[in-house]
Amino acid sequence: MAVESLVAAAPYLIEQRYQDYTAEQHAVWAELVRRRRPQIEAYACREYLDGYGIVGLEDDRLPNLSAITGRLKPRTGWSTTSVSGFLPSDAFFEMLAARRFPTTTWLRSRDSLGYTPEPDIFHDVFGHVPMHAHPVFADFLQHYGSVCARIKDADALERLGRVFWYTVEFGLIRQQGKIKVYGSGVISSHGECTNVIEGGCELRDFGLDEVLATPVKVDRIHNRLFVIENFEQIYQAMHEAEKRVLAGS
Ligand SMILES: [Fe+2]
Repeated sequence: MAVESLVAAAPYLIEQRYQDYTAEQHAVWAELVRRRRPQIEAYACREYLDGYGIVGLEDDRLPNLSAITGRLKPRTGWSTTSVSGFLPSDAFFEMLAARRFPTTTWLRSRDSLGYTPEPDIFHDVFGHVPMHAHPVFADFLQHYGSVCARIKDADALERLGRVFWYTVEFGLIRQQGKIKVYGSGVISSHGECTNVIEGGCELRDFGLDEVLATPVKVDRIHNRLFVIENFEQIYQAMHEAEKRVLAGS
């Protein structure tokens, strides 16, 4: 889908002025990656680690979004598209449905390496984008956007938001008997990842009924997250969720 076909999201599209990033900002990116590297190597799922190389992320400099798109788009059709900030939900779903991942361009400062209240480019790119190189995950995410873009009922959207939250943002997967992480919030946050691996959080087998019944709490660390066995599982779950929401149940 071309840029011109984005309607709700159009006012939010911006250029990433890559040449304007300072040496200090590249150094902050490098420090953020250096801090995440040990847990990522030990606990990120295979598909994330493969995707990191496929999209061409570099440990020591901020990502150039058009270069990432150049590597990603031929594989799964996804683009990494710069936006001015937090998007209203209709614009967000429209972009996902068009396989365009909205990405902020600002980076947290050295004073707030551990936490930002709003997602920055480190969360959006380091946390999310490598998974977009995986074909099944890529299709799941596009489908999520296309379903939500058609729904106007706020309660239905809130319930579907739980699927997004417990997969794209905080999803876990079992690989070779071990718990691995693929959700961006766990990938990009030392505190959330530590909470998972040190047992601070109940790990439940992913089931659509329970996920739909588990409200999202954004203001505290998780005490319950969901573990999938493979990515086909969330792809199928989203189709099932679509049927249920469309049926009004
Ligand atoms: Fe996110």
